[in-house]
Amino acid sequence: MTYIIAEPCIDIQDKSCVDVCPVDCIHEMGRMLVIDPEECIDCGACEPECPVEAIFPEDALPDKWEPFVKINYAFPEGASVIDALVDAYATEHNVQNEPIA
Ligand code: F3S
Ligand code: F3S
Repeated sequence: MTYIIAEPCIDIQDKSCVDVCPVDCIHEMGRMLVIDPEECIDCGACEPECPVEAIFPEDALPDKWEPFVKINYAFPEGASVIDALVDAYATEHNVQNEPIA
């Protein structure tokens, strides 16, 4: 299994999660960060660090954010593929996440 970063990370990119990941498998893309599912050791350290609760174990991801399984799993295909998927999702769902004060 792996952890998944979902919609609340889009355009927020707090990055508190990056510092606690013991295997450095959380990677910055254009508008959000994603977890490399091949490298994630399922430790759970990142989940409580995210101030906008964007991180979930894959089997506990809310159904409405199912598209983020594909987005995180696209990590080996490169940033341009992920950025295109995120842009398409954000447009379709009119994502407007407010910056953290
Ligand atoms: Fe994103 Fe939360 Fe990490 S906003 S960068 S998943 S701390
Ligand atoms: Fe990193 Fe996965 Fe743990 S992303 S913090 S190894 S749950």
